[in-house]
Amino acid sequence: LETQSRVPVIWLHFQECTCCSESFIRSSHPIVADILLDQISLDYTETLMAASGFQAEEAMHQTMTKYKGRYILCVEGSVPTAANGVYCMIGGKSSMQILEEAAENAKAVIAWGSCACNGCVQAAKPNPTSATPIHKLVKGKPVIKVPGCPPIGEVMAGVIVHLVTFGRIPQLDALGRPKAFYSKRVHDTCYRRPFFDAGLFVESFDDENAKKGYCLYKMGCKGPVTYNACGVTKWNGGTSFPIQSGHPCIGCSEDNYWDNGRLYERA
Ligand code: SF4
Ligand code: SF4
Ligand code: F3S
Repeated sequence: LETQSRVPVIWLHFQECTCCSESFIRSSHPIVADILLDQISLDYTETLMAASGFQAEEAMHQTMTKYKGRYILCVEGSVPTAANGVYCMIGGKSSMQILEEAAENAKAVIAWGSCACNGCVQAAKPNPTSATPIHKLVKGKPVIKVPGCPPIGEVMAGVIVHLVTFGRIPQLDALGRPKAFYSKRVHDTCYRRPFFDAGLFVESFDDENAKKGYCLYKMGCKGPVTYNACGVTKWNGGTSFPIQSGHPCIGCSEDNYWDNGRLYERA
């Protein structure tokens, strides 16, 4: 790996809140500075690049031409397809046009976060912009889905480092998610699971059972139906995750969780 040149990456931002990028830059193992300085060449990203305007557009097009078939395309956000894509325009082009151009010669496409994987909050009913996930628009090449709102930084880093190191996409499940991080439910690795099994539940956020750290199932926890690595990898360098902070899992890595998950609805 040390002798390989850095792999070019184009990272697009469409309908999103940018917290996927915020999560990525907090990866501590591998540390994100090592990825950016040693393993990838982040040639275009609206959030982190120094260039702007024509220079930025030029950088993206140079990468697409010079590294045809060799660059990785990362997409954060959904694509609005209503009204010919007018709801998300960058540099005079719709996100639909930009995605089509950038995906055409990409080696692989990574869909970062629930916005890019399933539309997330923008696609919640009535989905006024027809927010559409990336895999529904990119044809003929693999789209690696890394869902979560946001995904865990170390998971994002792990996916991109796998691609760069081995030159191939990681093993994916039937929904296109890397098995290494999405093969278990949050419930399967949750440290509160013994309380669930014993029938000991928090009944309200400020009751004695909450202080004792009992299971949050009755507070609407979606851990039993949510596939993610939060119970193992945790967040902020392994510090904690929502359930450890006393909050039920809202199922942020599952398709259409805004509409389907009935947030906070008691079981
Ligand atoms: Fe933000 Fe969540 Fe969308 Fe990521 S998936 S850009 S964190 S709204
Ligand atoms: Fe399962 Fe949630 Fe209870 Fe943890 S807190 S054991 S994930 S129901
Ligand atoms: Fe999301 Fe649940 Fe993890 S809300 S951050 S999948 S614990």
